[in-house]
Amino acid sequence: MNKLKIGICGWGNVATGLYKTILDNQKEIKSNSNIKLEIVVIGARRDNPKCDPQNTIIERDIFNVLNHEIDVLVELIGGVEVARELILKSIEKGINVVTANKAVLYHHGDEIFSLADKKNVHVLYESSVCAGTPIIKMLHEELAANKVSRISGMLNGTSNFILSEMEEGADFQDTLKFAQKEGYAEADPSFDIEGYDAAHKIGILSSLAFGTSLPPDDFYIEGIKDIEANDFIYAAEEGFSIKHLAVSSLSEESIELRAHPVLISNSKYLANLKGVRNGIEIETDLIGKLHVAGSGAGQASTASGVISDLIYLSNIKDKISSENKHKSSKQILKIDDLKFENYINIKTSISEDNFASIEQVFNNNKIFIKKIKWKELSKNKSAVIIFTDLHFEKDLNKCISEIEQLDEIESVKSIRIES
Ligand SMILES: NC(=O)c1ccc[n+]([C@@H]2O[C@H](COP(=O)([O-])OP(=O)(O)OC[C@H]3O[C@@H](n4cnc5c(N)ncnc54)[C@H](OP(=O)(O)O)[C@@H]3O)[C@@H](O)[C@H]2O)c1
Repeated sequence: MNKLKIGICGWGNVATGLYKTILDNQKEIKSNSNIKLEIVVIGARRDNPKCDPQNTIIERDIFNVLNHEIDVLVELIGGVEVARELILKSIEKGINVVTANKAVLYHHGDEIFSLADKKNVHVLYESSVCAGTPIIKMLHEELAANKVSRISGMLNGTSNFILSEMEEGADFQDTLKFAQKEGYAEADPSFDIEGYDAAHKIGILSSLAFGTSLPPDDFYIEGIKDIEANDFIYAAEEGFSIKHLAVSSLSEESIELRAHPVLISNSKYLANLKGVRNGIEIETDLIGKLHVAGSGAGQASTASGVISDLIYLSNIKDKISSENKHKSSKQILKIDDLKFENYINIKTSISEDNFASIEQVFNNNKIFIKKIKWKELSKNKSAVIIFTDLHFEKDLNKCISEIEQLDEIESVKSIRIES
């Protein structure tokens, strides 16, 4: 039986979950993989009352973990700069790395993978995207014969959980607090709800599938905090759900990369994935559309992804480059140059009879209105709900800023419709 000697850095939610899972599921791990995972040392700058490390050696300076005889460093401290330094030092010393840290890979992936390649060291990161739900090794290995043309999905469990609960009538803030208590939300929830967590993940997938750089060039990122309860009601009347979707797709000339809320038809697979689950749709030439869904956060799911990397590592005989595939010189398209249909919610005290002033702005900007509905919010306030035809993003932005200048307009919100 192979033995893998492990040093863990960080002693928080994921690290303690990993420790417990390795102890609790020892029998399964051994019988399924013929590998014994041995935790030699833990880098923890303080104790965690939720987990007793028993007799395992504890290093208060996490960098000292690298001075022990280990085959792999498991980086679970999160954050960017200290994690980068730790990972690079580990690679320099010839110690393989497993990380769940999407932020450090997003910002420094190219540097990390290229040093790993030079030093003949593996950097594995299955749980950095969708925790234990398999996607990284699947893209790298199982789909290696395929030409992938598009990856899209709900990549942030917290956002999907909050939006699913709001669809059932729950309040945004209450649901966020519950998600934090359950350990679904990251330490800083703004990363989840402002879209950066999903953006980091689609950046990593795009790099793996299409060779975009890490960090990628600028792309459009928007979170979920402007979505209101009524938006779900108005969207549902037309057969849509609201999701936070991250997309990377390839065309001949360029790459589309974006992460933002969308209205998505209830007939689509992704619209029906509720709760903390992550869901990904991959389009390839050989197998068509492939769907992967599962828990995308939490101790147990992340431990599952980290352990899959550890087992993979002990099975690797010949060196396979840990660096992401080919690099692409294709430009990332600006969101302004993409075309969408849109859902628009205008809060106004203008009466239905005086809609002409708003309609004129749409006409001037050549944005065709497919459907319009008036919703009374109070005696003097309505929500005008508009569904548009396909148009360039930049034309809609101009149209919205002109509508915002009109008298009696309280707010204008638009959500793209994913066709
Ligand atoms: N939570 C999830 O569901 C999930 C899912 C997938 C991936 N991940 C990723 O897994 C990683 C860990 O997440 P987590 O939820 O376990 O975070 P966490 O609960 O905040 O734990 C982080 C741990 O790292 C330690 N740490 C942070 N910065 C450090 C530093 N500069 N030096 C030494 N120790 C440091 C913290 O120590 P203190 O307690 O002293 O601050 C804590 O023990 C992150 O990269 C995250 O993105 C998490």
